Amino acid sequence: MGQTAILEDVDGAQLARSRSRARRLRILLVAFIIGAWFVGYRCCHGSTSQNTVCPQTEALVPTQNHELWSNISALVSTDSFEKHAAELLGGAVRVRGETFDSMGPVGEDPRWEVHTKFHEYLAEAFPQIHKALKLETVNTYGLLYTWQGSDTSLKPLLMMAHLDTVPVNPDTMDSWTHPPWSGYFDGTSVWGRGSSDDKSGLIGTLTAIELLLQGEFQPPRTVVLSFGFDEEAGGVQGAGHIAPVLLDRYGTDSFAAIIDEGGGFSEEYGTIFASPGVAEKGSMNVDLEVTAPGGHSSIPPSHTSIGMLAAAIVHLEDRPFNVHLDRKSTIYARLQCAAQHGKAMDRTLRRKIRKSLKSDKKLRELESFLFADSVEKSLAGTTQAIDLINGGVKSNALPEQARAVINHRIDSMSSSIIVKERDTTLLKEIAHRFNLSYTAFGDEITEGGVPSAGTISISSPLVLEPAPVSPIVMDKTTPYGVLSGSIRATYDARRSQNHLSGDIFVTPGMPTGNTDTRYYWSLTNHIFRYTHHNLGSSSNPLGGGVHTVNEHIEIAAFVEMIRFYVTFILNMQESLDV
Ligand SMILES: *[C@@H]1O[C@H](CO)[C@@H](O)[C@H](O)[C@H]1NC(C)=O
Ligand SMILES: *[C@@H]1O[C@H](CO)[C@@H](O)[C@H](O)[C@H]1NC(C)=O
Ligand SMILES: [Zn+2]
Repeated sequence: MGQTAILEDVDGAQLARSRSRARRLRILLVAFIIGAWFVGYRCCHGSTSQNTVCPQTEALVPTQNHELWSNISALVSTDSFEKHAAELLGGAVRVRGETFDSMGPVGEDPRWEVHTKFHEYLAEAFPQIHKALKLETVNTYGLLYTWQGSDTSLKPLLMMAHLDTVPVNPDTMDSWTHPPWSGYFDGTSVWGRGSSDDKSGLIGTLTAIELLLQGEFQPPRTVVLSFGFDEEAGGVQGAGHIAPVLLDRYGTDSFAAIIDEGGGFSEEYGTIFASPGVAEKGSMNVDLEVTAPGGHSSIPPSHTSIGMLAAAIVHLEDRPFNVHLDRKSTIYARLQCAAQHGKAMDRTLRRKIRKSLKSDKKLRELESFLFADSVEKSLAGTTQAIDLINGGVKSNALPEQARAVINHRIDSMSSSIIVKERDTTLLKEIAHRFNLSYTAFGDEITEGGVPSAGTISISSPLVLEPAPVSPIVMDKTTPYGVLSGSIRATYDARRSQNHLSGDIFVTPGMPTGNTDTRYYWSLTNHIFRYTHHNLGSSSNPLGGGVHTVNEHIEIAAFVEMIRFYVTFILNMQESLDV
């Protein structure tokens, strides 16, 4: 294009000179094309979709089951189906199933028992599923459905969701437009706790399978459904119990893919991007404790245990984690996708992102630009937050002990070992400054402490390592490729029905929270945290009230989720290489 512009701009006097210039440019251009072809051929021969930045698969529409897919796709767009879907979801919302933070084990704490009602509801709402699939309960309330496939050489597909919801804060009851357990359908949205997180995923998955069964579909590939009931409290009782059953039955690396709740699609830089979560940060709470001799407050030492704890906290906060933008990170892959496909991205930013592929200097520039936004910086690396503190019992007594809890979110490319080393090293200086004897994660660190001065210790009872990153090779024979193609086909189907324009692009994402998939890492490398729901745009978020008041979901969005599940299940059935 640049060459044409030069030719058009010349006047007669310069014609001769510009002709020879044009010829030189033409030769250069031909040489460039041959060179590019050669490089492209050598680097990516056999997988042509890999030779661009942020490659995309085409929409993947089921072929062997095309008629069934079209029938279902047409059916779910009807008004009567929307009403039916709203009824199914509303009914699920009406079964109140909150998970509280401090619940006792199953069998002891009666609050779990609500899920029996939920089981009854599901049996009633999905008769075909309860006829055709094998159902087992695990730890009483966890549900494990098996839709046995005819071809046992194919690895099964695992689809997850959770039965429980976060609680409704009783103080907010008056702020709900429709009561939180009404499941009320106002013609546009279904309202109530769980309507989005995650009863839409649960009921969406079951509705999709019920539709496939009504169409007399028989799967070659086994589909397993795993529904925990305490995801909102870490999933120990539900997914934590189901995982060993699956591992025992199928073995490690035995599933083709896992799909669970997670990122949806939204508008960024003028383009719609879907972001399946392919990574999850780790997390770790560090207990920091300082002890010192007690005594009367009228004859204090210069530093009490509280003062020394405060010094330790300040010391940590003054030395935040070094965060760098890494070319291998999910965030960086997202940036490349945004630069490649984001229509409205600012030109300077686009250029920075592109140049950073090769130039380290540009990479650092991009990093400082990006990390000016503290949210981006937090997402890109390991973080620390002092979230709890206590110490002292009386205003005239020296505190014998003071405690704080540091919550770390561990970057995908880091590990708890690296974080422990960093904390251990930093607090050595505090131990030294106050002559404290120092224990870190079970190891005696400072022997030079003066016993009478006191102690400092850090420990971490619970560690969740960062999840393994799912491969993001974009090809119709990879799980990520099938997922991407299904997302695009689902979006296209709606677009053509509603006469919309625009395209959807798939970019790897990393949801900020953790899901029940944390228990399932050994079952497959291909774990996707994705709910096909519209999250709006950064300038106009839809605000579906997840975890807060007025949780709701638009029925059109819910129906799209069902369409997606149908498409994904059929595509996974037809993709025999996956
Ligand atoms: C699709 O719908 C048509 C019309 O109702 C029906 O005749 C056909 O059997 C259906 N096909 C499948 C595979 O469900
Ligand atoms: C630490 O101990 C050394 C040696 O016992 C002493 O000289 C120093 O004053 C102590 N420092 C503090 C802060 O207590
Ligand atoms: Zn959830």
